[in-house]
Amino acid sequence: MRKKVIAGNWKMNMLPNEAIGFITELTPLVKSATHDVVLCVPYTDLFYALLTAQNTNIRIGAQNMSQYEKGAYTGEIAAPMLKSIGVSHVIIGHSERRQYFNETDEAVNEKVKSAFNHGLEPIVCVGETLEQREAGKVDEVITSQMQKALDGLTTEQVQKTILAYEPIWAIGTGKTASKEDANEAIKAIRNKIAEIYGQMTADSVIILYGGSVKSTNAKELFEMSDIDGGLVGGASLKVEEFSKIVNYDTQK
Ligand code: 13P
Repeated sequence: MRKKVIAGNWKMNMLPNEAIGFITELTPLVKSATHDVVLCVPYTDLFYALLTAQNTNIRIGAQNMSQYEKGAYTGEIAAPMLKSIGVSHVIIGHSERRQYFNETDEAVNEKVKSAFNHGLEPIVCVGETLEQREAGKVDEVITSQMQKALDGLTTEQVQKTILAYEPIWAIGTGKTASKEDANEAIKAIRNKIAEIYGQMTADSVIILYGGSVKSTNAKELFEMSDIDGGLVGGASLKVEEFSKIVNYDTQK
């Protein structure tokens, strides 16, 4: 059976003192969680977050990284830099990076490869716009993004990739995909993985849902057959709310 992963994406929020306070408060609230808990924090919080999360079950991720390993790329952060301080996960290809920073499928693919080369676990985001959904292109768009992101990886690497299905129209809007729609989209990704890499690989890939996940809808989403947890934005900025999402399975 696939494990569940609940990951927070703080985006461009939280100063180091806030990160330290947040993780200190969160630690006792999630210590009994049976699934993986990850917080993807801004670069400037990473070191503080890692120190505060030491000896806890909270793992710390970054929200982006360079596709290059080192060199004259002013302002960029490379995979070995993240790995060297103890970062375990990295979000790659978030729709905000694709939309506002012109991140292409090719760059996403190079970043995923570099993450694996340096022992980081990539959380690779795919998702359609509202126009694409209304045009009936959801499966086509998200399976194509997935294929391009994973191109050239070994089957073993594909098995270790965490995917996140984040419909763009559901991000930060308060509009959540229905649990059925989210499950169908994730199933479409899984079926395409089965077609390319085999059923065993498809059955082992963790695929998260993201887009206005809250404590009030986490349980119904995460209990669907193909949804293996969530990538949580806004609701990961409040300790109590995020801890409720992490502990969705103990809710009445
Ligand atoms: P919200 O949970 O704020 O909609 O953000 C989702 C997201 O983009 C997580 O990566």
